[in-house]
Amino acid sequence: MPTRDRATQGNPVAPGAVAAAIRKIGQVRRPASRDAGAGLGSETQAGARRPDGTSLLFPAITDWFGPKWNTLLTVYELKTCAEKAVGEPNIGGAYRSSVPHPLLLDAEGGTRTHTRFPSPDFESGASTSSATSAQDHGSPARGVLYDRGMKVGVLTGGGDCPGLNAVIRAVGRRVMTRGGDVIGVREGWKGLVDGLFEPLGPREISGLLPRGGTIIGTTRTNPFKLDGGVERVLANFEREELDALVAIGGEDTLGVAARLYAEYEFPVVGVPKTIDNDLSGTDYTFGFDTAVWVATEAIDRLHTTAESHNRVMVVEVMGRSTGWIAVVSGIAGGADVILIPEQPISIDEACDDIRRRHERGKDFSIVVVSEGYELEGLSDAGEVDQFGHVRLSERGVGATLAHEIEQRTGYETRVTVLGHVQRGGSPTPRDRVLATRYGLKAADLVEERQFGRMAALHGDTIVDVPLADATAELKTVPAEWWDVARAFFG
Ligand code: F6P
Repeated sequence: MPTRDRATQGNPVAPGAVAAAIRKIGQVRRPASRDAGAGLGSETQAGARRPDGTSLLFPAITDWFGPKWNTLLTVYELKTCAEKAVGEPNIGGAYRSSVPHPLLLDAEGGTRTHTRFPSPDFESGASTSSATSAQDHGSPARGVLYDRGMKVGVLTGGGDCPGLNAVIRAVGRRVMTRGGDVIGVREGWKGLVDGLFEPLGPREISGLLPRGGTIIGTTRTNPFKLDGGVERVLANFEREELDALVAIGGEDTLGVAARLYAEYEFPVVGVPKTIDNDLSGTDYTFGFDTAVWVATEAIDRLHTTAESHNRVMVVEVMGRSTGWIAVVSGIAGGADVILIPEQPISIDEACDDIRRRHERGKDFSIVVVSEGYELEGLSDAGEVDQFGHVRLSERGVGATLAHEIEQRTGYETRVTVLGHVQRGGSPTPRDRVLATRYGLKAADLVEERQFGRMAALHGDTIVDVPLADATAELKTVPAEWWDVARAFFG
């Protein structure tokens, strides 16, 4: 497991309660943010300074001895403040919780401090080495005394999806800009189970916006299904000295996050990803727009060849248990029949629509079917993953449907299964923007210690919702969408 030196290792001031006090004083000195100062406890005033840098608490003494005694006074104040300290100041300036999260306490009961990437240079992508501390760059106070940033883990879980890297970039940019560190947790929850970490600096997060897939890898690992899995997640999180985790995933990955938060107060925030668009709590997940774009383009292409041969073209698209990709790409591509799990129609009904169309003089038809469509006679086989999902592509719903249509109508029929083409490649502009907005929001939630929440899109506004709400049930295609699609059948 890669490790990194920490500015506070061997530092006689940082560990324990004194470190917490140092940060309280830094809190007062930090420039105001959105809600800076709200609810600041009186003990934090111990570090207040006049514009000339002298202490407000000991004006007579400081005036008498002069500024050079401030150092001595600061040590005294730190000690006093450490003894009084009962709360945890928000890094961004607000004072929200008086009880630090147990995972954020060091052995002596103080809140941990750690190294950060000094002054990230995003323009050139210049990166500091993971072993570099603020001191190495000649700024011993920065990042150690007054400007402590958080160490934030990022993981991507479940099926990959265009836009994952854009989220990593946005989280990274915001966390680093605020003086924090970003650690890639490799391969989803597996990375926390097995301790697979990779520091991400400005260079690592540079050039990610158009890049498909995920630079930190992904798996469908469920720690709750592994012997000692959850204990290892908690232990590795502690060992890596992470302050918070941004989990980017769909219902499975975020379901684990929601449970870890509910059962262990694990400091996690979520970002909703999936090409399937089936997560509740948000209007859209990123990745969906790209998948729809790919499927629509495929339907457009199939149109010209279908028309040339007077054929019926069946297009099987992904979507798992919901028909979002099928219905939206079907509407956009002008499909003549769409079959989705939420609105089952019989094969005979689908054939009637196609016949009606042919009677109108159209010798070809496009049929879009979602992979999760329940077709008579088809059953699931094969392996089940750690979240209980079968591989739907194995069922062959598209091929079976094409065969049945040809048998029942006599029209020559072909099938195209789009498969993982829908998940690969560069995200659309809309997905890049959505992923970026989600990433920034997730970093803000971390900074505000709003754990157990997920970034979400409501209308055109980025909001946050409880992770538990987002993962409680699948978001299925509503009847209004189906009505739009059905208006063009046959
Ligand atoms: O959840 C995203 C998704 O692409 C589904 O639409 C699809 O059923 C599944 O993942 C495929 O998973 P895998 O990549 O493991 O075959």
